[in-house]
Amino acid sequence: MDNKELIEKIKKLKKEKNAIVLAHTYQNVEIDEVADFSGDSLYLSQQAAKTDADVIVFAGVYFMAETAKILSPQKTVLLPNLNAGCAMADKINLLQLRKFKDENPNIPVVCYVNSTAEVKSESDICCTSANAINVVKSLNAKEVLFVPDQHLGSYVESQLNDVKVITYPGFCPIHHSITTDDVISQKSLYPNAKVMVHPECQKDVTQMADFVGSTTAIIKAVKESNDKEFIIVTEKGVVQRLERDCPDKKFVLINEKAICETMKLIHLEDILNTLQNNEFEIKVDEGIAKKAANAIERMVNINA
Ligand code: 13P
Ligand code: SF4
Repeated sequence: MDNKELIEKIKKLKKEKNAIVLAHTYQNVEIDEVADFSGDSLYLSQQAAKTDADVIVFAGVYFMAETAKILSPQKTVLLPNLNAGCAMADKINLLQLRKFKDENPNIPVVCYVNSTAEVKSESDICCTSANAINVVKSLNAKEVLFVPDQHLGSYVESQLNDVKVITYPGFCPIHHSITTDDVISQKSLYPNAKVMVHPECQKDVTQMADFVGSTTAIIKAVKESNDKEFIIVTEKGVVQRLERDCPDKKFVLINEKAICETMKLIHLEDILNTLQNNEFEIKVDEGIAKKAANAIERMVNINA
């Protein structure tokens, strides 16, 4: 079956099943053809919380589908490929979180949404890269614990004057491996290009940025800019969407390794299969889901 046929079949099935497809910005770009909503983690979790659909197909990674299920427990949430995990979310488990809390007692815990439901269930509030600064501010605390992403945590601290952010040593391997040398070498080829950086990158890289933000924030900033050249310091999906939407501008991916392989496991065939066979339905233990919902709902109610 070619893409056109697949897209038609998927659209028909979505109608029959009252299903929506949520697609993260790092998905293979053709997935947008069948997506009802495409964007960053915050935007997609807001859509998952308010949709009237009976079925949510999450074209993203496991923690995203799990978050949607926690926000909408009465709905069927499907992840088209069960191997679509997140290496960052795997960096901390419940025991490691408890140890971190024991070592730093009586300090509120902010957990990046790139984490397991169990970790969320023992955190005070969740955040995404789009709202992390506002989430930390909302706590009015002198100190916060931030898990699992050390780089997002340290970026948040750099943007706030009076909060100490104690970070867990987790990271995303894709963003963590981007270096200042990568930026310097692209800058030497494109000296006028603006450097657009995701806050999961290391501190010395974000310090070289003209703009730091979530995937949706980067796309919005590019679209609103009068500049014509951009070095995109995050995953390749952002470049593909910008090339599609802004043909008059030039985009350079920071390096060819900036690809999240697990995000790319989902293809149109998988979306069709998930709708036809309910594979793979995401379930979350009720007790954990209830506790995790507190942290996620607190976040969803805060503006980015
Ligand atoms: P966003 O918050 O921009 O969606 O990023 C999520 C993510 O996994 C980045 O690696
Ligand atoms: Fe996880 Fe990194 Fe992939 Fe984002 S890019 S989903 S943080 S592994």
